Amino acid sequence: MIKVKDKEFVPFLSNEQILEKVKILARQIETDYQDKRPLLICVLNGAFMFASDLMKELTLVCEITFIKLSSYKGMASTGIINVEYDLADIKDRNIIVIEDIIDTGTTLNFLIDYLKKSEPESIKICTLLLKPSAVKHHVHADYVGFEIDNRFVVGYGLDYDEIGRNMKDIYQLKQ
Ligand code: IMP
Ligand code: MG
Repeated sequence: MIKVKDKEFVPFLSNEQILEKVKILARQIETDYQDKRPLLICVLNGAFMFASDLMKELTLVCEITFIKLSSYKGMASTGIINVEYDLADIKDRNIIVIEDIIDTGTTLNFLIDYLKKSEPESIKICTLLLKPSAVKHHVHADYVGFEIDNRFVVGYGLDYDEIGRNMKDIYQLKQ
């Protein structure tokens, strides 16, 4: 058991389990993107560690860029999202969005619409974690590390109020 700020968390996914999954995802991406020079778009801040490990594992020619979004969640099902930091030219590129976690899918739905305006050749989604509520909102992820239940997680880039990103394992809120 560990404490992050005022909440208690229990071990959930070890760094070894995460890296094993990263390898599997990398092999899938390599199969789909040979000679396509994919452009990874890392969604900051949460996905930075995942994007780093995934890119190290990829053996094909690829590039990376970053986008920073902020979401101000009002009522449960709505969120207003701002682009705080924008990316390079993505026209005609094969994009793979790298996300840490998809919860309601609000962020991702916004991001896909936003990216489409710049006319990329293709867009696929790679997320380390997927919560079940995403299914309700018809959010489609092409590469999924782990489907998890609807409990708050922290570590490996994911934060609780900006704290806990540096932990190399992922922890789940203690029930
Ligand atoms: P969505 O827009 O509801 O899909 O939320 C996605 C964003 O919320 C993620 O990129 C995370 O920053 C954050 N988030 C959702 N669930 C968790 C969690 O369990 N731990 C930490 N951050 C989370
Ligand atoms: Mg966050």
